[in-house]
Amino acid sequence: MLIRHGGDLTENDVTPHEVWLRRREFLALGAAGVGLGLAGPASAIALKGAPSRYSTTEPKTSKADVTGYNNFYEFGVDKDDPARNAGSLKTSPWTVKVDGECARPGTVDLADFLRGNTLQDRIYRHRCVEGWSMVIPWLGVPLADLLKRYQPTSKAKYVAFETLHRPSEMPGQNRRVLEWPYREGLRIDEAMNPLTIMAVGLYGESLLNQNGAPMRLVVPWKYGFKGIKSIVRISFTESQPRTAWNQSAPHEYGFYSNVNPQVDHPRWSQATERRIGEFRRRPTLMFNGYGEQVASLYRGMDLKKFY
Ligand code: MTE
Repeated sequence: MLIRHGGDLTENDVTPHEVWLRRREFLALGAAGVGLGLAGPASAIALKGAPSRYSTTEPKTSKADVTGYNNFYEFGVDKDDPARNAGSLKTSPWTVKVDGECARPGTVDLADFLRGNTLQDRIYRHRCVEGWSMVIPWLGVPLADLLKRYQPTSKAKYVAFETLHRPSEMPGQNRRVLEWPYREGLRIDEAMNPLTIMAVGLYGESLLNQNGAPMRLVVPWKYGFKGIKSIVRISFTESQPRTAWNQSAPHEYGFYSNVNPQVDHPRWSQATERRIGEFRRRPTLMFNGYGEQVASLYRGMDLKKFY
């Protein structure tokens, strides 16, 4: 449940203009019975989620690192580029198109897309294929709850996602680092797994642009690049969708991309990782430590082959 929680925010914590523009969306979430705190036009939207048994109790990575050390190539390829440049992205109005193999396709405003759902806290390990990791307190909604309303048909074997394509606001899209828009995909059972969430906030506030505002995917047992940001389109498909990184370097990035300490990336060993804020590297956990919840999804598959 969301409660009012705005008193301890400072202006430095937020991007006031962006957040003010997005007031409408979160009011809609509030109207859906989850309650909402608004600290005023010069502050972030404060959000509170219901606690979840899927959250880790490990120490969280600092908010400064979570919002200042990012990968978001639409705003540049260096880790500090997204925080510096993502202010140009306008996140309101924001429409989401849902199409493909489903009985009720449609294009809706973000507020309607989220309506009726209770925000949950999900403190998850976040593991990038580059060999670093964080622990991030996300706020989000189980993706399954959002997708079921569209009534996927029996042909819906996969779910494809697309980021906004708007080079005027995402200057990195003027360079062909990747084929734009950024695309990702999941098998339908992965998408419906209770660990998979659509995140709209972190650290008790609505997402900042550099983290993928207004909503981004979080799939904690997979490498971070599966967590596509600033999503505008979701498609149910019968065949495995193309994904941005797999298309640009198929020998480096697979479709499944489950965290696996035994399968190295050509450029980075995956045996260990550096938790941002720590000195020593730590061993990487199979499925990023979420095997109990997800290992059964891959029974019978050769996980080395299906990296
Ligand atoms: N989504 C889009 N649209 N563009 C990107 O460049 N980078 C991915 C993923 N989602 C990326 C993206 C990568 S490589 C990672 S590790 C995570 O976002 C980083 O998320 P964070 O910056 O919130 O930690």
